[in-house]
Amino acid sequence: MKWPNHGGQPETIKQLFKLKEDVHIHDFSANLNPLGPPAWLEEEISNQYHTITSYPEPSYLKCSISVAAHESIDPNMLLLTNGGAEAIFLIAKYFENLKAMVVHPTFMEYERACKHYHISVEQIMFEQENEFGLPIQTMCEKLKETDVIFLCRPNNPTGTVINERDLLLLLEEGKKTGTSVVVDEAFVNFLPASVPSLSSWLATYPNLILLRSLTKMYTIPGLRIGYIMANPLIINALRDDQIPWSINSIVDAIVPKLLDDVQFVERTKDWLSEQSQYVYKKLASIDFYHSPSQVNFYLLRDKKQPHRTEELFHFLLQNGILTRHTHNFKGLNGDFLRLAIRSKEENERLLMILQKWRNET
Ligand SMILES: Cc1ncc(COP(=O)(O)O)c(C=O)c1O
Repeated sequence: MKWPNHGGQPETIKQLFKLKEDVHIHDFSANLNPLGPPAWLEEEISNQYHTITSYPEPSYLKCSISVAAHESIDPNMLLLTNGGAEAIFLIAKYFENLKAMVVHPTFMEYERACKHYHISVEQIMFEQENEFGLPIQTMCEKLKETDVIFLCRPNNPTGTVINERDLLLLLEEGKKTGTSVVVDEAFVNFLPASVPSLSSWLATYPNLILLRSLTKMYTIPGLRIGYIMANPLIINALRDDQIPWSINSIVDAIVPKLLDDVQFVERTKDWLSEQSQYVYKKLASIDFYHSPSQVNFYLLRDKKQPHRTEELFHFLLQNGILTRHTHNFKGLNGDFLRLAIRSKEENERLLMILQKWRNET
């Protein structure tokens, strides 16, 4: 079976599993915000229509200043990118031919980017038995031979958040061994206020590189916008390697407005807090494991029948629920499914189908 590499592809899955075209699928496989995009965005995009007849200003100065102000950093510590994906590949280019460490299970594009730029990768595993914590001792022992560590925080697919103590240790030791720490914060704005971004650490740690994406929070995978935050020397080098006009003029104009919409993010956090509590409580009551996620997706496994995950995937699909398989997440081997937290109605439907699975199997 050739499983798709990413979630959010209901049409491909329908063809793969020969489902009828008109079957309605609830897509729990992509980890996008179900409240988005913000309601005003459609009109604002058409208001910016006139910008497409000119090249964007190549340094994106106005937009960069506004994003930097939002992050409370200097604009020369910021580079706008064509989504988080371009950010990952630009950073890999910066470490071309060197040695990286990637902690799995995690987003597969770090390894793909490393391969593309001939970076050798040491694969380390999160400690599944320890709530997917970092094997910090092992990592520290290997720092001398490591030029860059790729971390995802919150991590895709587990939704877990690496603790600050471990990160501080890696950054401190990394200063001594010349190791940079890349932290992909694509999902950081789903976290509760008690777990802040690491942007305030950039001033202390020149070996810290942060990646962001606006894709997930604002449900705009088609627009392509992300950014990198790092010390100015790194940012300058990355800018030299970036394709000219990588960000289109419409995006350039609307990013400041997206970041200004604080209420949208707050509404999202309220929905997430309410719905995740509801979903996790119910899952526990019908004997399903969920990873200790702090964001809008989690790993699921049937505690009573842990080796029937593939059958569970098919059962859910036949009942109109698409989940994300985990065959291409190293260390998970398809043993879990990744699901998004969706709207109240969709979550209720999911839980009803899981109850049906419990009753019938
Ligand atoms: C952890 C992580 N980083 C980055 C990306 C890429 O985001 P973008 O769509 O902005 O390129 C994804 C997309 O799934 C992701 O899960």
